[in-house]
Amino acid sequence: MIKTQRVAAATVGKVLAGASLTAVLQDYWRTHADLSGQQRGAIQDLSYGVLRFYGQLDALLALLLNKPLWDQNLRCLLLVGLYQLGYSKTSVHAVVDNAVSASLGLKGSKGAQGLVNAILRNFIRQRATLLERAAESEVGRYSHPQWWIDKLRTQYPQSYQAVLEASNQHPPMTLRVNRRKVCVSEYRKWLNQNGMNAQLLWNDALELACPVPVEKLPGFAEGLVSVQDAGAQLAAPLLDAQDGMRVLDACAAPGGKSAHLLELADVELTALDNDTTRIIRITQNFSRLDLRSHRVVQGNAVQPAGWWDGRQFDRILADVPCSASGVVCRHPDIKWLRRESDLSRFAAQQREILDALWQMLTRDGKLLYVTCSVFAEENKRQVEEFLRHHPDARLLPLSLVETIDGQLLPNSHHDGFFYALLHKA
Ligand SMILES: C[S@@+](CC[C@H](N)C(=O)[O-])C[C@H]1O[C@@H](n2cnc3c(N)ncnc32)[C@H](O)[C@@H]1O
Repeated sequence: MIKTQRVAAATVGKVLAGASLTAVLQDYWRTHADLSGQQRGAIQDLSYGVLRFYGQLDALLALLLNKPLWDQNLRCLLLVGLYQLGYSKTSVHAVVDNAVSASLGLKGSKGAQGLVNAILRNFIRQRATLLERAAESEVGRYSHPQWWIDKLRTQYPQSYQAVLEASNQHPPMTLRVNRRKVCVSEYRKWLNQNGMNAQLLWNDALELACPVPVEKLPGFAEGLVSVQDAGAQLAAPLLDAQDGMRVLDACAAPGGKSAHLLELADVELTALDNDTTRIIRITQNFSRLDLRSHRVVQGNAVQPAGWWDGRQFDRILADVPCSASGVVCRHPDIKWLRRESDLSRFAAQQREILDALWQMLTRDGKLLYVTCSVFAEENKRQVEEFLRHHPDARLLPLSLVETIDGQLLPNSHHDGFFYALLHKA
């Protein structure tokens, strides 16, 4: 456990210095190929856990320290220890003893052992009082940055607390059944026979009672199912693509929504993305799912001259880059990496993509604008602005699911998404 704590602390430190959690962990896995699956799982659990509850853990640490701690390595190790004491089933003695030993190896942390021992033991002794005091500040209570909490409160006065709480939960594992190969009820029975319980959320979405490694899913390698959040599974059916249509997925990588589109209809699909690395995953996903009749293209949606043949599309999916504020239960680092000023930068990028794509949509065609954000700047306000500048655009009502003006807020069954279906008159 000493190594696990140390690596998790270093991972958290890198994220707090500005790196993405996924990137830091992938880099570590690449350079430490000898780690067992169990070790990886433990490092991942601790790093995700600390970042999920960083606001609270940071508030606790501030209460436990007499003066600020400048050594970031030591600080992160203490955060890991506090997280384990607060949220894991590991025995308190093992957590403290291992954290004390782990502090031995830290560069320049003279006297760290005594401090780690004292802080963690003080937490154990005064746990209830400390937890109460940490919750006095909103950051300590909700583990989100203050600007984020304030914005959600303004934009969703009735539901902001539920959104914050849902964003701190462990996300469920949800499957999308590939209708081309098997029907949902049959696959659900098959899961049951293999000892896995699942509930049907909507359409092709089955939520597993307990997450499992994908290799354990019956028929995964043969493309019977994919792992995809239930909220994300609304995109393809909302776009309403019919057999024979020309469809563009303009921001397609890694290809989850594109694949769903191809599972639902025999369309002529162009899957576009400007990221040379991510685009490889589209082809991999399509090939596992046995999906054909598509073009995977690397290019910029805003510069169609490089990849577009000039024939307009009947349907366009614009799953644009965004703050990802609706998916923080899967990516808790986002809460601490985003700045409020990022929102206007994302909004400008989204506006540019949307404007460019509108030119490529045929008359009477439909464009589905999607973000995995909960902020109105990227969603409702973006679409209102678009409608003001495009008299040939009309907002269509959404079927399938209840939203607040297209906003699907995150809850215990799905991530947060925004959907706007635009019709070209
Ligand atoms: C939200 S992700 C798409 C997720 C994907 N639709 C799925 O369901 O698997 C946004 C994608 O947009 C791509 N992107 C960003 N700017 C772009 C642009 N100007 N043109 C094309 N793709 C872009 C990013 O590389 C990223 O893969």
